[in-house]
Amino acid sequence: MPVERARRRLGVKWSRYGDDVVPAWVADMDYDPPAAVTEALHGHLNRGDLGYASMSADLPEAYAAFQQRHHGWLPDPSQVRVFTSALHALEAAIWNTTEPGDGVVVLTPVYYPFLDAVRDSGRRLVDAPLDPDGWRIDPDRLDAAIDPRTRVILFCTPHNPTGRVFEPDEIAAVADVAERHDLLVVTDEIWGELTHGPRHRPLATCDERFAGRLVTLGSASKSFNLAGLRCAVAVVDHAPLERALDAMSTHLQGAPSTLGVVGTLAAWTECDDWLAAVRVELTARRDQLARRLAADAPAIGFEPPEATYLGWLDFRATDLGDDPARALLKRGRVALSQGPKFGTGGTGFARVNFATSAEILDDIVDRVATTVAAAVA
Ligand SMILES: Cc1ncc(COP(=O)(O)O)c(C=O)c1O
Repeated sequence: MPVERARRRLGVKWSRYGDDVVPAWVADMDYDPPAAVTEALHGHLNRGDLGYASMSADLPEAYAAFQQRHHGWLPDPSQVRVFTSALHALEAAIWNTTEPGDGVVVLTPVYYPFLDAVRDSGRRLVDAPLDPDGWRIDPDRLDAAIDPRTRVILFCTPHNPTGRVFEPDEIAAVADVAERHDLLVVTDEIWGELTHGPRHRPLATCDERFAGRLVTLGSASKSFNLAGLRCAVAVVDHAPLERALDAMSTHLQGAPSTLGVVGTLAAWTECDDWLAAVRVELTARRDQLARRLAADAPAIGFEPPEATYLGWLDFRATDLGDDPARALLKRGRVALSQGPKFGTGGTGFARVNFATSAEILDDIVDRVATTVAAAVA
């Protein structure tokens, strides 16, 4: 998408900063969503068909079929519940299965709204940092972090911000700890379709020890660039949470808008070709980023992600300090996400969103490289 068109977008990515800043922060793509989605939305708009949605009931079957096609997992549609966003479902799981002061495990660095969700609920963050050498799960560290009042593990695969697709042995370590300490595992798999080769493994397919203690979050928001539609699902395989959600006021639970349901259904049923094409584009941009950084800013550490369109950049060998995104915004007029917000392991890092055109990505790297060079000069 040409930069002039991107700047006309009213979404938060392009409107938060001034026209002299190139945005590479929030996880939206600078690509148009699939035509089948916009056609479905237009159809509803053209008919003035904006009453209460009747199609929410189709979401569980559509999600189950989508998961089976892409990941070989057929969730039980009767366990699929509809929410307005992945974080809405995540917070509903925390609030309904824990008490204030209970521990909730996070594997840091991690998508920082996980940290906010725990803090805001009055629950306690139980930090189990990933091993910074490759961002692998350290089973001993995970086990040692857990105390008698720990109740939940918040998991995320593929992982934001590192882009890792966790390996079977790492997932087995999580299953082992969850079983031994009787923990609920909430696994956020909304990046599952955006891999660059490695196969995403839904936790539900990985280990029998997850049975009865697993909530899987799914959404079309990342894979199809539809975050503003506000629609997500959770597969709830955890009897206490099922009971709590059954008892919860329906209005407190909320519901996606008609357009959220319509767009998500179109994405999950008609857009596999679009998804295949966007994956090719994203892998090309990832490789462009790797090439450019190696050539023009070799002091920045970058391990090309196995999934997502996020680069987790290590600036510790530069002079940009603990929070490089601040310096990059101020001096380079390029907006990345601030590493320290992602918790332990984020100091000296910044997250870049490379889901954009080759031209805009070149501009992003130019600004980053120039700022780093000026800082060391
Ligand atoms: C891992 C992860 N979970 C959840 C979200 C937000 O999803 P939603 O808008 O559906 O709450 C994001 C957005 O970037 C994300 O990266």
